[in-house]
Amino acid sequence: MKLAVVGATGLVGSEILEVLDEHNFPFDELLLVASERSAGKKMTFKGKEYTVIGLKQAVSEKPDIAIFSAGGSTSLEWAPQFAEVGTVVIDNSSAWRMDPTKKLVVPEINAKELKGEDKIIANPNCSTIQMVLALNKLRERYGIKRIVVSTYQSVTGTGKAAVDQMMAERAGQPADMVYPHKIDLNILPHIDVFQPNGYTKEEMKMINETKKIFGDDSIQVTATTVRVPTIGGHSESANVEFKQDFDLEEVRKILSETPGVVLQDDPANNVYPMPLTAHKKDEVFVGRLRRDESQPNTLNMWIVADNLRKGAATNAVQIAEYLVEHRLV
Ligand SMILES: NC(=O)c1ccc[n+]([C@@H]2O[C@H](COP(=O)([O-])OP(=O)(O)OC[C@H]3O[C@@H](n4cnc5c(N)ncnc54)[C@H](OP(=O)(O)O)[C@@H]3O)[C@@H](O)[C@H]2O)c1
Repeated sequence: MKLAVVGATGLVGSEILEVLDEHNFPFDELLLVASERSAGKKMTFKGKEYTVIGLKQAVSEKPDIAIFSAGGSTSLEWAPQFAEVGTVVIDNSSAWRMDPTKKLVVPEINAKELKGEDKIIANPNCSTIQMVLALNKLRERYGIKRIVVSTYQSVTGTGKAAVDQMMAERAGQPADMVYPHKIDLNILPHIDVFQPNGYTKEEMKMINETKKIFGDDSIQVTATTVRVPTIGGHSESANVEFKQDFDLEEVRKILSETPGVVLQDDPANNVYPMPLTAHKKDEVFVGRLRRDESQPNTLNMWIVADNLRKGAATNAVQIAEYLVEHRLV
């Protein structure tokens, strides 16, 4: 197994290395890849020193799997070149997600769709992954009619430069502006670019990707995505209207038995999911479960996950693990 991590010097890339280590992902050779700016830089993984290489060299090495986290344009240009030499690309950017010829995979939900001929596999948007994983078993049991979701997303979702902006503002130092406004002590109802319909691209990703992953265009989704000055993970308030009525105790049981989901719902003891407690964890945390008393068959819930973990690195590594286990690579 020759494995390439493209974008290895970035936030998601370094998280991927941590997850590969924690999961003991089996490989014989590791290629750490970044832009030409970083080529030649030394990085240490599992006590071994690696030299960062550029994309051209990485393609010539014909890795078996390449996990990409280097932005959409890099992925659009380079993923097909890797696929051409036989590499399976698992891509964290939004470049291929809505391409009808590419699978959009959350392993616990739809890894079974993967086939040996899939050479570019898309990792969904971080906010989408945690929501669909929390809802999947409930959808199977009750059917979902409509989801109204509002997010509270960590600055780590924008990458290293955004964390630097927030930390510089916090320290009272001049900051290189990644966001159009100050982010520390502020919130921005603006993630990714505004679309002609008034929604942001991030909001449209949540809407479209949810339908694709569930394979169900009839699910109605509306989203408001918001950046908040946290770093541990993304939080979401979801209002979910089911097709059938539900029993709250049964909902708790289903969630507590859903692989990859952890129920944290004990308000009497101030137990509920938070970014600080989800930080560096692979799971999606769910709590604040309560019936929406204003409408039938509707549940309110609070969903938190580390966007760099299940929202990106963990999900991508799990796809790689599935490919290896099922001899698809
Ligand atoms: N942050 C999240 O929560 C999250 C979640 C899901 C998906 N993603 C996606 O993952 C990707 C990376 O995000 P990030 O947060 O890790 O960003 P980041 O911290 O800014 O890191 C970007 C990485 O991409 C590399 N890169 C940039 N331009 C490149 C080029 N032309 N050729 C090769 N490598 C290049 C950078 O290398 P240098 O160091 O050499 O510049 C760096 O390793 C993005 O597509 C993002 O949308 C992020």
